[in-house]
Order: sequence, then structure tokens, then C-alpha cells
Amino acid sequence: MIVRKFKPKDLKRVYEIENMSFNQSYGINMFQQLYEMGVGFLVAEEDGYVIGYVLFWIKYENQGHIISIAVDKNYRRLKAGTQLLVKAISILSLLSLDTIYLEVNENNAGAIEFYKTFNFKIDRVVPGYYENGDGAMLMYLHLKGR
Ligand SMILES: CC(C)(COP(=O)(O)OP(=O)(O)OC[C@H]1O[C@@H](n2cnc3c(N)ncnc32)[C@H](O)[C@@H]1OP(=O)(O)O)[C@@H](O)C(=O)NCCC(=O)NCCS
Repeated sequence: MIVRKFKPKDLKRVYEIENMSFNQSYGINMFQQLYEMGVGFLVAEEDGYVIGYVLFWIKYENQGHIISIAVDKNYRRLKAGTQLLVKAISILSLLSLDTIYLEVNENNAGAIEFYKTFNFKIDRVVPGYYENGDGAMLMYLHLKGR
């Protein structure tokens, strides 16, 4: 398994993975736009086949933000998510940031466990954050030495 930068040819596959992973989809154009904006965009590839992606950026001067991460259902629990997030965190760590934060659906227990393995802590719940009324759990990671 390798983690590499997203290329435009990956767009359809990333969209497929997002669609199977979330009830609410960003839409394929949003991925294209985020790519054009220059946000961090990595994919995990197994034998030439894209099996996961992560999107991240600097939202505020000293805060990194994980926009989205997902792994193809058929390739979960094989550490692709871990490899993607390790790489995203290591890139963000080079940028003198204090924290990395993210929002995750409060009912998404699996993803919350996943983030806890990175030592992400729970900040608070934002009620009604998602369109379907679900709340978002805000989680953050203090970067070492800051
Ligand atoms: C969350 C997600 C990206 C994790 O990717 P993954 O490649 O399956 O995760 P990993 O194999 O790297 O998991 C690492 C560790 O995280 C924890 N973990 C991951 N998924 C978990 C789950 N469903 N339930 C409990 N713990 C989980 C485990 O400790 C796991 O280690 P283990 O398999 O040795 O027990 C993947 O489940 C996914 O795409 N989910 C749907 C989309 C989503 O919820 N994205 C995050 C919200 S923004």
C-alpha cells in the first residue's frame, strides 16, 4: 500500500469511495474544486487501485483541519486510514500549527475510535451540525512541542 498525492484521474474513484462511506455526499465537483484550491489531498493505493483518500488544509493561521477521510468498505481495518492520517498529520506538523481539528458525526463510533488511536481528544458536540439533524463531535489533536 502506498500513499501519494491525488491526481485528477483519481477523481471518479475518490467520489465512489466517498459515496459508499457517507450518507451526505460532497459531490464530485466539490472534490475538483478542493483540488483546484490546493488543499492537501492524498490517496492510498493498493496495487494501482485507489482504496482511500484524505483531504486537509489550514483553516486558520495556527489550526489544521481534516476535511474528510474515507476508505473503501472492502479495504477497511487494514490500516489504510492510519497511513493516510499519519501522512496528513506529518505534513501539517511541518507548518508550525498548534492543533489539528475535525468534525465527525457523533453517531460514527467507529471513526471516533479511529481518531482516538491518534490521541485526538473530544472537544464538544455541535448539535444539528449535519443536514439530517445529527450532531458533530469536534475533536482536536495538539501537535507535539507546541
Ligand atoms: C474511519 C475510517 C477512515 C478508518 O479507516 P481504516 O483504514 O478502516 O482504519 P484503520 O485500519 O487504519 O484502523 C486503525 C485503528 O482505528 C480503530 N478503528 C478503525 N475503524 C474502527 C471501527 N469501525 N470501530 C472501532 N475501531 C475502529 C481500531 O483501533 C483500528 O485498529 P485495529 O483494526 O487494529 O483494531 C473508515 O472506517 C471509513 O472510511 N469510514 C467511513 C468514513 C468515515 O467515517 N470517515 C471519518 C469521518 S470524517
